[in-house]
Amino acid sequence: MDKPSASSQDGVEARKVAIDCIRRIDEYESYANIVLVNAFKKSNFEQRDKNLITEIVYGATRMQRALDWAVDRYLMKSPPTALRASLRIGAYQLLYTRIPPHAAVSTTVEASSRKNRGVVNAVLRRVAESVPIEWPNESIRLSYPDWLIELVESEHGVREGQEMLEYMNISPPVTERDDGYIQDLSSQWVVENIDIQPNEMILDLCAAPGGKATAMASNGAYVVASDLHHSRSRRMAQNVKRLRTDQVFQVTTDGVEPCFGESMFDKVLVDAPCSGLGVLHRRADARWRIKRSDIDNLATLQLKLLRSAKNLVKPGGELIYSVCTVTEAETSNVVKNFTKSVDGISPVAINDPRWRKKDGGAFLLPQDHGTDGMCMFKWIVE
Ligand SMILES: C[S@@+](CC[C@H](N)C(=O)[O-])C[C@H]1O[C@@H](n2cnc3c(N)ncnc32)[C@H](O)[C@@H]1O
Repeated sequence: MDKPSASSQDGVEARKVAIDCIRRIDEYESYANIVLVNAFKKSNFEQRDKNLITEIVYGATRMQRALDWAVDRYLMKSPPTALRASLRIGAYQLLYTRIPPHAAVSTTVEASSRKNRGVVNAVLRRVAESVPIEWPNESIRLSYPDWLIELVESEHGVREGQEMLEYMNISPPVTERDDGYIQDLSSQWVVENIDIQPNEMILDLCAAPGGKATAMASNGAYVVASDLHHSRSRRMAQNVKRLRTDQVFQVTTDGVEPCFGESMFDKVLVDAPCSGLGVLHRRADARWRIKRSDIDNLATLQLKLLRSAKNLVKPGGELIYSVCTVTEAETSNVVKNFTKSVDGISPVAINDPRWRKKDGGAFLLPQDHGTDGMCMFKWIVE
């Protein structure tokens, strides 16, 4: 767990903002990153206060199941959202940061609304006294929904599954490419495992916000970067402009029924929409949003995208599939269904020692190299 120290003697304003952010995330099911951006627009905090608020808000959102269990031991009934928010951010500081307990409690009490201060003070003091906590089970300690822990443990084993979930409770590292684009190493390694030739024509069928498309173009390919969503395509346009890439051409189209002719491209990349279970450390609230049934719906879409993408590859060209998740449903099972339902493709092994091999493809668990969780497969189309 990241361990920020108190940013200043007087961090009350920072805690007030953190409480308000958590309340909004809870009450309106708002996205944590958007709530934070809006909060910072309205204030002129110094960078270190912004860092503290970000860490507390993301941390308290990720760890909310553990935090609620830790405070609920001292409450008679479930608290209203504003009180819940104060207790969450207070307990987060006590359990997961190096902020001295007296500072964590006093600043959080002061930042709470007047009517909540007594309860916040009493409960946080009890929580502080209960450290180290004896957790009732791993789902609560790790702070994930039961279904998600069960799925990950059943597919990756209890030890590796829990290591992965533990890893995704830590704020992720920020990695920058040579051109300044912020992109996780796992995505950079997907592109490194595509054998890009100068001037070849590559279609990136699910391209926004353009991370892999711009990386492929910087390796000399002409890249048609297409995506279904206008808003995400607009972000891609900004990225393409900022990077001054003149080998990326944008198209907005549904990858399931795309507006391209058959056999047009040397290579087609399907970097498909997925459950994102390999990037839960980047999206603090994602574990509480995603449903078990979403995974099956996404697997159906992924299969459709792969089938349509295959038709767009020239004979002898390559089809590449990648997803930032490691569920079997969205990786091996999609691929099994795909390969048994189409003719004329042969798998290409991914011989990169950084990746684990599985079912003809390769995957990364986040704890392997401190990256996102990622999976990729490649085929030659005959
Ligand atoms: C994992 S993201 C792509 C990330 C991108 N390749 C990159 O490296 O920056 C998946 C993308 O698929 C897009 N998408 C979702 N459904 C789609 C569809 N039916 N056809 C094409 N794109 C779709 C989403 O808008 C999203 O931008």
